[in-house]
Amino acid sequence: MEEKLMEKDYMPWEALLQEFGIRSTGMHRAFFQRFQEGIANIESLYRSIYGDFSESEDVFEELLKSIIVAYLEREQDLKKRDNAKEKQGHWFLSNQLVGMSLYVDRFAENLSGLHEKLDYFDELGVNFLHLMPLFESPAGESDGGYAVSNFRKVDSKFGDLQDLVALRKSMHTQGMNLMLDIVLNHTSHRHPWAEKAKAGDKRYQDYYYMYDNRWIPNQYEAAMPEIFPESSPGNFTYSEECQKWVMTVFHHYQWDLNYRNPHLLREMLDNVFFYANLGVDLLRIDAPAFIWKETGTSSQNLPQAHQLLQLIKQAVQMATPGMAILGEAIVAPEAIMEYFGKGDRAGKECDFAYNATQMALQWDMLASGDTRVMLQAQPILQQKPWRTSWISYTRCHDDIGLGYDDYMIAQAGKNPYQHRSYLKDFYAGKFPGSPARGALFSSNPKTGDARISGSLASLCGLEFALFAEGPNEIQLSIQKILLMQAFSMFTGGLPMLYYGDELGYLNDYSFLQDPAKSYDNRWMHRPIIDWEKAGLRKEKGTVENQVFSGTQRLIKIRKKLSAIADFNNIRWIQPHNIHVAGFLREIENQRVFVIGNYSNETAYLTWYALKEFGFVPNSLFDHWSKKSVQVGSDDNYLILEPYGFRIFEVKD
Ligand code: GLC
Repeated sequence: MEEKLMEKDYMPWEALLQEFGIRSTGMHRAFFQRFQEGIANIESLYRSIYGDFSESEDVFEELLKSIIVAYLEREQDLKKRDNAKEKQGHWFLSNQLVGMSLYVDRFAENLSGLHEKLDYFDELGVNFLHLMPLFESPAGESDGGYAVSNFRKVDSKFGDLQDLVALRKSMHTQGMNLMLDIVLNHTSHRHPWAEKAKAGDKRYQDYYYMYDNRWIPNQYEAAMPEIFPESSPGNFTYSEECQKWVMTVFHHYQWDLNYRNPHLLREMLDNVFFYANLGVDLLRIDAPAFIWKETGTSSQNLPQAHQLLQLIKQAVQMATPGMAILGEAIVAPEAIMEYFGKGDRAGKECDFAYNATQMALQWDMLASGDTRVMLQAQPILQQKPWRTSWISYTRCHDDIGLGYDDYMIAQAGKNPYQHRSYLKDFYAGKFPGSPARGALFSSNPKTGDARISGSLASLCGLEFALFAEGPNEIQLSIQKILLMQAFSMFTGGLPMLYYGDELGYLNDYSFLQDPAKSYDNRWMHRPIIDWEKAGLRKEKGTVENQVFSGTQRLIKIRKKLSAIADFNNIRWIQPHNIHVAGFLREIENQRVFVIGNYSNETAYLTWYALKEFGFVPNSLFDHWSKKSVQVGSDDNYLILEPYGFRIFEVKD
């Protein structure tokens, strides 16, 4: 079958390029080369996914045309930016980058409001903005913008495309980078494709998974887990409008797209290029783990999902190479690693993945005061391919899933079930004495699973300390916030702060009054910024001031230390003291130790712990306390106060 297709006559790509005036010499030479370098790869990926599809050849030609057109339509300024990034090499691994993720409307009302706030980011040191979904999404059924009804129209509540482009241009001029989402896995049921499918248009019914009865849905359901078991149980929804069962893995209003259909892939690729040519520097591919479904499997992380991502990456690499790709795969540790590409495709899939494993393990350490489970995960995390990077983070708009493996908990000497129950109770504030004030999200009584919602500050005890405790506890929770942020900013990767956390925002319970939000407690950690209150960051001694200036200082230190660039240069300190986590970052002639105490008691770490890396440090400079420290003898200790940390640069 495959051979027959290969023999079939279709337009050779050289001729196609010539048709568009692209030759091996002249102004399009670089693109010609990239195309030549990538075509074999893209063709083999495409064929392995769509070889059997009857219109496979025609769609492939269309797809190549999309790549060429995207390149030709790319603005000159963006092409220059592509070249500059290429010259810089590994641009996104740099320790100079610090990001923030935010909802435009909740942060600054709209895009022009945000435009006026660029100085705020400069003050903090943030130069990379992830703007949460901006494209049209039906009010009341939007999942925070992740149910898109028009991939190319900015939702009027934010402004319009011109506002977005104007903002991006100012950001680029000021040395900032832009990150946006593409929601690849599903559309809103109000997207024109879905509307046409509902009206009976066969072409668009083939864009989704739609069935007349439960026969096939039941086969899928047998092996698919539920994502939102409380608010949207099951993976299919009956559409009264067209009398069909439609696959809806997330909410009932988010219809899963069917990538078995190459026409759909081509159309979505055009959307990818649309974002690239708006000037996006990093494209966050939402929920890529789900883009291929197969009965009898969990329909997550399937090989075809990876091939599709590799194909997208390759296409972007050809047409708009300055745009990096982030795969938002919040799955088990080993499964996350595969989003970087594995085997001979290592480093050829996503440039970035979220380090959801490390994020959750930091929360694990903070609740248990024990760093051993976290250390068990490192052998996997350290397999990250060269030239790829993490989004490292403490909080984001989503819940915290304890997605790491049971064996990691068991190897640390704990019972996985009990340990997970403890963590959930701890963060939900149910464990006796726990100062955390979060809530369980998506509890599934069938499996016992649950994730955790809550703002950084509330989970670190600040809410409870402010309302029920006193100044000591307030200080302790601020210390926890900064410890968590220090680890996210220094373990490697592009740190992505979450808006509001820099000001110590607590949970916001107003979502309970809004029927469009009350079913989803992730809204408790999606604050609306009160700019008058934000002004308190300038008043010495306020909570806002302490958290903001601490965050600001961490960012400054990160930017000073080139060893913090993500060159896979991290080695963890052995657990001489289980309460203390620490690592060495090393580059050329710079060495930095970051060491933190995750317990609520003073911790003692033998100085020997710093001498196991093939050199013996003598004097250190702690960038955090701005003090020089002499390394003591092996029977002496580095003493760390509760939740205290050090950022030691080795001086000699
Ligand atoms: C991603 C988003 C999340 C959303 C889901 C469905 O996980 O981060 O907020 O609910 O995708 O689009």
